[in-house]
Amino acid sequence: MLLEVLQFPDPRLREVARPVVPEDVNDELRKLADDMLETMYDEPGIGLAATQVGVGLRLVVMDLDWSDDGERNPRVLLNPEIVRAEGRATSPAEGCLSVPDFNADVPRAERVIVRARSLDWEELDFDATELESFCFQHEIDHLDGKLFIDRISRLKRDLYIRRRKKQLRVEARESSTPSTY
Ligand code: NI
Repeated sequence: MLLEVLQFPDPRLREVARPVVPEDVNDELRKLADDMLETMYDEPGIGLAATQVGVGLRLVVMDLDWSDDGERNPRVLLNPEIVRAEGRATSPAEGCLSVPDFNADVPRAERVIVRARSLDWEELDFDATELESFCFQHEIDHLDGKLFIDRISRLKRDLYIRRRKKQLRVEARESSTPSTY
């Protein structure tokens, strides 16, 4: 089932998600993870955090190098956490399914060591650089109520916010019922 992806400036994107506990892992959570993957592939994207579909749990799905013609390597991560971050890098032209029509270079750590749990509650460890590292940092930010636009210059952010508000005003006008006389 496809889920609705919340769009900036929805205040729910600013909420801090709570950790998943073993009792949370049931059919409902597995279904949520499946639906999030389906939604991510449909959008399309390479990562999606539960926060973005209005669920306040520390759950993310990722697939860095999938293609339309079959190759899929979905990851479902519970409680992903950066245990070490090293170096500085620029994540080029980063975008987000919750921040429509915008990309920007984002300063990020170069390498991250990430620990998470699987749906079977196994401990997973990742040593990530480049796209994988940036994706982990982006998705974990979502769980803390942060967006990539928080990490760019105020000037660029304000320009985007102004453009987005204008776009929302136009959409509101277009969707309002025309007056009939
Ligand atoms: Ni995002």
